[in-house]
Amino acid sequence: MGNSIGSQFIVTSFGESHGRCLGVVVDGCPAGLPIGIDEIQSELDRRKPQSSAGGTGRREEDRVEVLSGILNGASTGAPICMLAWNKDADSGAYQEIVNTPRPGHADYTALLKYGKYNDFRGGGRFSGRITAGFVMAGAIARKLLALSGIEIVAHTVQIGDIKASPHPSDITRKKVDKSAVRCADTAAAGKMMKLIAEVQKQADSIGGIVEVLAFNVPGGLGEPVFDTLEGELSKAFFAIPAVRGVEFGAGFAAAAMQGSQHNDLFSLSGKKLVTLTNNAGGISGGLSNGMPIVARIVFKPTASIGKIQRTVDLKTGKKVDLSVKGRHDSCIVPRAVPVVEDMAAVVLCDFALRAGIIGRIIK
Ligand SMILES: Cc1cc2nc3c(=O)[nH]c(=O)nc-3n(C[C@H](O)[C@H](O)[C@H](O)COP(=O)(O)O)c2cc1C
Repeated sequence: MGNSIGSQFIVTSFGESHGRCLGVVVDGCPAGLPIGIDEIQSELDRRKPQSSAGGTGRREEDRVEVLSGILNGASTGAPICMLAWNKDADSGAYQEIVNTPRPGHADYTALLKYGKYNDFRGGGRFSGRITAGFVMAGAIARKLLALSGIEIVAHTVQIGDIKASPHPSDITRKKVDKSAVRCADTAAAGKMMKLIAEVQKQADSIGGIVEVLAFNVPGGLGEPVFDTLEGELSKAFFAIPAVRGVEFGAGFAAAAMQGSQHNDLFSLSGKKLVTLTNNAGGISGGLSNGMPIVARIVFKPTASIGKIQRTVDLKTGKKVDLSVKGRHDSCIVPRAVPVVEDMAAVVLCDFALRAGIIGRIIK
């Protein structure tokens, strides 16, 4: 339960961190979408850890296998099942923490829900590795959206207390991917790298913020009142492990603004109605308003750290000083950038299908 998202473009996630494989089934992709395995693979490659940016030492090949739904380089209209085999799982370090839940992780809540049957190895279903499947689905969604000219780009805007202020023209996928921390502001990126290296030395971790922008989204996407565009986007973002907050446009800063500051004033650009500012983040009344969609997603510092932390041995009731072993990202943010982009793509694709903007057969 709870492993699927979407109404017309339905993505079902499966697999565990140290199980045999991880993947997704995408149901609802129209027939005739040209899609190469290399295009799905390149999304997986973007998500791979880079040790220079605080990425885990776990080295997974993450080669996508497409089991169904794509024939001769195009979608058939049938469910697309995609997976990657886990090849570098080392469950040894986890045996030790079965009875001593890691502070900040999902070990304890998973135990409450699934009891002794929970697959605790490597965080099981709660691992960041499940997002390998998310980016496979995103690769398909992104291609479908591109048919309508919709483009999505995400980038790192904060790590720790270091904030980026990139020039808007630098926020492109190409430029973002040149930076190991996926930050389009070169000076800030250097400082972020340094900070990550420092916390790593202290056997600690650090959090940050990813911003995602969606361009050329037509107005009117979204469904009032429960399936609002920002509601469904938030749901998809909160499916990414370690997400602690989401804001759109001016977001939480709106609390300190007056109506005259927050209202986006209308204007005409040629024949198109635009707004002079975008405090709404491209969404009004749960519907896209034709301006770029802008969301910021907060990631907490990685829970699994080497630094000694207090936990409890659930068998003996005794307190335990835990230093988490295993291989962990000391900063999740750089790896989360493509995941955020792809989850945004999945939701926008679902709404574009609901609105009939994408047809059932791609001609
Ligand atoms: C790409 C990615 C990689 C992650 N890597 C780790 C990791 O190495 N160690 C860890 O403790 N948590 C990692 N996480 C986060 C945990 O999975 C997450 O914090 C945990 O499941 C608890 O869920 P919550 O933080 O959403 O409450 C990662 C998350 C993502 C998106």
